[in-house]
Amino acid sequence: MPQSLKGKHDHGPLKFPDGFLWGSATSAYQVEGGNIHSDWGDLAGLACDQYHRYKEDFELAKKLGHNAHRLSIEWSRIEPQEGEFDQSEIDHYVKLLKYLKKLNMTVMLTLWHFTLPMWVADKGGWENGKTVFYFERYLKKIIPYIGDYVDLWVTINEPGVYIYETYIERVWPHAKKSLWSQIKTFLNLASAHKKAYRLLHQTYPAGKPVGMANNIMSFESFHKHSFIEQLAVSLNDFFINHLFYFLTRGTHDFLGINYYFHVRFKHKGVTPLPDSRLMQTHDISDLGWEVYPEGIFDALTDLSDDIPIYITECGIASTNDDRRNRFLLMYLQEVSRAIRSGVNVRGFFYWSLIDNFEWHLGFEPRFGLVEVDYETQKRTPRNSARVYSEIIKRNAIPHDLLKLLGHGIRVEDVLKEKIEE
Ligand code: NOJ
Repeated sequence: MPQSLKGKHDHGPLKFPDGFLWGSATSAYQVEGGNIHSDWGDLAGLACDQYHRYKEDFELAKKLGHNAHRLSIEWSRIEPQEGEFDQSEIDHYVKLLKYLKKLNMTVMLTLWHFTLPMWVADKGGWENGKTVFYFERYLKKIIPYIGDYVDLWVTINEPGVYIYETYIERVWPHAKKSLWSQIKTFLNLASAHKKAYRLLHQTYPAGKPVGMANNIMSFESFHKHSFIEQLAVSLNDFFINHLFYFLTRGTHDFLGINYYFHVRFKHKGVTPLPDSRLMQTHDISDLGWEVYPEGIFDALTDLSDDIPIYITECGIASTNDDRRNRFLLMYLQEVSRAIRSGVNVRGFFYWSLIDNFEWHLGFEPRFGLVEVDYETQKRTPRNSARVYSEIIKRNAIPHDLLKLLGHGIRVEDVLKEKIEE
C-alpha cells in the first residue's frame, strides 16, 4: 500500500460513494440443502432449503434494500459423476440467477466455495494437479449458460482457510497432516484461479471483472519493539495476506476481501502467540472471535492497490443481535474512513443473509441478518437487518445511530422508535 495512506483517519461525514454495492453473501452448500454428491456428504441435510426457497430469500434481500448479492454454485450438483453434467441442475442455476437479475440485483458469483464433488475428492482433491483441469473443464461447460446473468466473478474462496481447516486444524474432509499437501493445494488453487481468470476474460473480453475472495487478517504485535513479535507479524502478513496475490499477480480485476480476524502476537517464551487475555477487553462473537473494527481499516489500507476492492464477506456470529448492530455500525464506520483515506472500496457483502451451516461447527453459529428456524424454515429478519437497510437507504452511516455507540444505549430501541415514527 502507498505509505501515505497508513494511519490517515478522516472525520468527515460517513457517506459512501455513489454506486456502492450493498449486499450479503452465502455459499451453496451452506444454504441449499439436499447436497449429497459433495465431499461433505449430506452433513448439512436440508440446511436452509434455499434450493427451493431462493425466490423468497432473494425477495427478502431486495426488500431489505440490498442492491447486490454474492452466492455460489455447487459443482457436485452440476457434475455429480466425472464428465457427466446434469442439465437439470444447470437449468436450476440459470433460473436462480435470472431471478436475481429480474430483481435488479448485481450478481457476484463464486465458482468454488470449499466443497468438491466426491469423485474429485476421491482422486485427491486440490492436492492433485489434475483437479485444475477438472475445474477448468467444468467451467467451460457452465459459463456459457450462466455468464450472462453474472456481473462479478469470484473464482475461489479463501484458499488459506481451506488449507488451515483441512491440513492444520484437520476438521474438514480428507484431513491429514502434511506440509507437502498444503503446498500442493495452495499452488493448485493459485493455478485454478489463473486458469479461471483467463477463461472468463476470453469469454467476456468486454469486461465482467474477475477476482477471488481472500481471508485477510489484521496482525499486530503486543510490544512495538519486540523483534520476535514483529517477525511473527511480518511472516503471517506475507503468508496469509499477500502470498496468494503474489503468485497470481496480474490476474485480479479487483481484490475480494473477507475480513473476520485480528491477532496480536505476544512473545511468550520462544513462541509468539496471539494474546487471548487481551481479547476479553473487547466485544467477542459467539465463536470467540474478537470484535476489532480498526482491523478492517488496517487491512484495507494495507492491501490498497490500483484496483477496486470489494469486501466480499464480513460478519459476526451472535445470538445477541444488538451486538450485530454495533458490529455493523463500527465496521462500516471504519470502511468509510478507509474510503475517505483514498482506498477504492466499491462494495460490502455482509456474511450472511440468513443463518446457515457453518461447516464443522454446524448450525449453532448465527451469522444471519435473517434468523432461520430450522424446524419450520421460517425466515425472520433480525433488527440488524433493519439497521443495515437504514445504512443502505442513506448510503451513509446515520449519525444519530452512531452517536449511541459507547453510551450503552441499545441501537435496537432507538431504531424501533425511528421506524415507528
Ligand atoms: C468465510 C467463509 O467463506 C464462509 O463459508 C464462512 O461461513 C464464514 N467465513 C464464517 O466463518
